Amino acid sequence: MERIHKLLNLVLPPITVLAICFMLPLLSIFKFTNFILRYLFPENMKRKVVLITGASSGIGEHLAYEYAKKGAYLALIARRAETLREVADKAAHLGSPDVLVIPADVSKVDQCKQFIDDVVNHFGKLDHLVCNAGISVLCAFEEATNVTNFRQLMDINFWGSIYPTYFALSHLKKSRGKIVVNASVAGWMISLKGAIYGASKAALIHFYDNLRVELAPKVSITIISPGFVDSELTQGKLMTKQGEVRFDRRLREMLHGIPFESTGEFAKAVVAAVCRGDKYITEPWWYNVFYLLRIICPEVVEWSCYLIYSKMRSTS
Ligand SMILES: NC(=O)c1ccc[n+]([C@@H]2O[C@H](COP(=O)([O-])OP(=O)(O)OC[C@H]3O[C@@H](n4cnc5c(N)ncnc54)[C@H](OP(=O)(O)O)[C@@H]3O)[C@@H](O)[C@H]2O)c1
Ligand SMILES: *[C@@H]1O[C@H](CO)[C@@H](O)[C@H](O)[C@H]1NC(C)=O
Ligand SMILES: *[C@@H]1O[C@H](CO)[C@@H](O)[C@H](O)[C@H]1NC(C)=O
Repeated sequence: MERIHKLLNLVLPPITVLAICFMLPLLSIFKFTNFILRYLFPENMKRKVVLITGASSGIGEHLAYEYAKKGAYLALIARRAETLREVADKAAHLGSPDVLVIPADVSKVDQCKQFIDDVVNHFGKLDHLVCNAGISVLCAFEEATNVTNFRQLMDINFWGSIYPTYFALSHLKKSRGKIVVNASVAGWMISLKGAIYGASKAALIHFYDNLRVELAPKVSITIISPGFVDSELTQGKLMTKQGEVRFDRRLREMLHGIPFESTGEFAKAVVAAVCRGDKYITEPWWYNVFYLLRIICPEVVEWSCYLIYSKMRSTS
């Protein structure tokens, strides 16, 4: 038994490298033609039903406007009913024929089941499920006053996407629909003072990569990795070490010099990519260089992060 592993250690890597060299040109041609086709014939969103969680502000709000411009029916979910209604009015004005507003908390499984049922009862179907609701944290792991504080972050970011997905599956299979998940660059990149946030996003990415295989070819899945996008979250709405979510103005000072993409531009790029049926979107696109660095020279990434983190620690 030991011998077979020794043999595989020796033989598998060169075979894999050869196979990659052989496959890469063919795969590139396939991906390029496939992209051109999807680019030329994107999904028509007119009268399709789109459910968006976390639609009361930031990215979710602007995704609602983009879908509205394309004539889709909308169901908007978040906890703040008042702000949701304002977003709904604007979306209706931009061209959505009917907007349903449902105040709900995505970290509560019963409420998720209820809003999926309500949406399907109201519109008769569901075409796109956009799991966007999320909170962030800026706190070194050891600073947390109670380790259980982090559970609510997982409840919203991870379970808050998994629950609606579970209840929507049968409807999405019927409509041959799409799932759009808001992950983050932090899901595959080191994010300073954001270990739990990054973990929640990494878990989402891995979950939906697996689910994509189970649901193919009926339901397709798009995973979004936003870089820094202007929203309440990046204005400093963060979970503190005491486990409360509130505004911390220091975040903007810390991120001084980092270019933020506008939420409108971001949402436009995302909806275009979803209608083309892209599997992944990293927006702004240049964040992909970090992915490359992380794979090719993880040490350099780690050292750079360590240097920045040491500086952060000495100034705070
Ligand atoms: N902005 C960025 O640079 C960036 C980067 C990477 C990833 N992301 C991801 O993008 C997503 C949206 O972030 P954003 O920047 O647009 O932040 P945001 O402006 O704070 O929006 C978050 C949205 O989620 C909703 N939400 C929070 N907790 C909820 C709950 N328990 N149940 C239902 N809705 C809830 C909020 O509405 P209520 O408070 O009314 O419930 C709000 O509409 C998040 O998943 C985030 O991780 C953002
Ligand atoms: C994804 O979630 C983050 C917060 O974690 C939020 O800032 C961003 O707007 C969301 N993106 C989309 C496309 O909903
Ligand atoms: C941490 O918080 C939980 C409630 O969220 C509480 O039950 C527990 O006793 C706390 N633990 C400590 C060590 O303070």
